[in-house]
Amino acid sequence: MQGRESTMPPIDLWESYFDATGIIAALAGPGVHGDVVEFGCGYGTFTIPMARRTSGTVYALDIDPLMVSATTGRAEHAALRNVVVERRDFVARGSGRATGSVEFALLFNILHIEEPVALLNEVHRVLVPSGRLGITHWIHDARTPRGPSLEIRPRAAQCRAWAEEAGFEVAWHGDLPGSPWHWGMVVERH
Ligand SMILES: C[S@@+](CC[C@H](N)C(=O)[O-])C[C@H]1O[C@@H](n2cnc3c(N)ncnc32)[C@H](O)[C@@H]1O
Repeated sequence: MQGRESTMPPIDLWESYFDATGIIAALAGPGVHGDVVEFGCGYGTFTIPMARRTSGTVYALDIDPLMVSATTGRAEHAALRNVVVERRDFVARGSGRATGSVEFALLFNILHIEEPVALLNEVHRVLVPSGRLGITHWIHDARTPRGPSLEIRPRAAQCRAWAEEAGFEVAWHGDLPGSPWHWGMVVERH
């Protein structure tokens, strides 16, 4: 089932809201040595800069066939061989990655879905010990040009509490370069 309020506007509009490369640099640091899983890759906005920063494979999951084909096309155009895009309902079927096999995970603009802790539990399952998870979401402010309804839009403190419940601890939390409407956080698996 597609998470609530998770359909996408036109790509140019979506990508005008933030600096995707800057966000990946802020959350993934100098690089990741291993596989990455991205829950809800959308247009591949973050998939491509993430693939450039890892020595492993980025498994990019999305339920929407248009998003799957957009991300596939972008990875091909960029000649990136380390991107695997899969049409998959990660709420119903999980990520499909093996337990303890992933170094880094992305939950970008998705934690407003119905069962956020269940999703965080799945991330915890697939990460290696001390593996990291990057989270970003719209700030809780009525002036944002888009984003889920404020009633269901989680604040950073709420996401932190959910992540702690799922077995993570916060490693970094701060503002994101060139992205005034978003906050970012990195949590580490216990
Ligand atoms: C708001 S968009 C964010 C996309 C991307 N993370 C970004 O920030 O650019 C959320 C994406 O999650 C996908 N999605 C929602 N529910 C899903 C589910 N149950 N399984 C897989 N993908 C899902 C949607 O199709 C959409 O592309």
